[in-house]
Amino acid sequence: MARKPIIAGNWKMHNNSAQSKELIKGIRANVDSLDIAKLPEIVVAPVFTSLYAVNEEICHCGCGRIKLAAQNVYFEPKGAFTGEISIDMLKDFETSYIIIGHSERRQYFGETDEMINKKAKVILDNGIIPIICCGETLEQREQGVTDAHIEKQITEALKGLSTEEVAKSVIAYEPIWAIGTGKTCDSTEANRVIKHIRSVVEKVSSAAAADAIRILYGGSVKPETIKEQMAQSDIDGALVGGASLKADSFADIVKGAMIG
Ligand code: PGA
Repeated sequence: MARKPIIAGNWKMHNNSAQSKELIKGIRANVDSLDIAKLPEIVVAPVFTSLYAVNEEICHCGCGRIKLAAQNVYFEPKGAFTGEISIDMLKDFETSYIIIGHSERRQYFGETDEMINKKAKVILDNGIIPIICCGETLEQREQGVTDAHIEKQITEALKGLSTEEVAKSVIAYEPIWAIGTGKTCDSTEANRVIKHIRSVVEKVSSAAAADAIRILYGGSVKPETIKEQMAQSDIDGALVGGASLKADSFADIVKGAMIG
């Protein structure tokens, strides 16, 4: 089955509204004229406070060329949860995707597999697509427990989801030692782990869901690495941090992932 590639920019905690507007304008200037039939899905994930400004810019292209993502959501619908944001609030901005379980959220904000599973359910119940992140630390890799660790993360994240829900979800494999370090995971190794993730999806859901689910690689993706990554059998795109903060480099990554 042909899976439509995704290039998603995770802007992390960068850019106020004016800066976000500049960046999205710069990206548009680079991608608006490209052949839409060959483009991967282009997704940008600004901070919450920039969603409005970026959404306005994206709507101006009028063709769904660029889609909006949020970097997080809370799983409760409303209430006394100071500092959190609900799914309903994100729906104000035509959010197409929501990143959950990023290693920075797990590491600095104590997010657990159980919370990530609750978030996945809320997102899918509201017609939005979760980008579920997983990945091992350097220590886990050196101890040879990468595959077991990822199997646990994915099994927990997908618990209780229907096969249709799993099929439309997105997973991002992001080895923690490759995030923001400039040390990209070797493409064949990333592909091997992603194949393993697909086999876990088959085990906990179905063969059809495993075939349909899009699995991205993330961790120091750059314009120079994307072609080789996209040439792998099971890598369906990239979640890009640092290189998504410059319009030119993000657009070059998008171009490197064009189909045909
Ligand atoms: P990086 O970040 O591209 O800067 O390594 C990737 C991510 O954390 O999603």
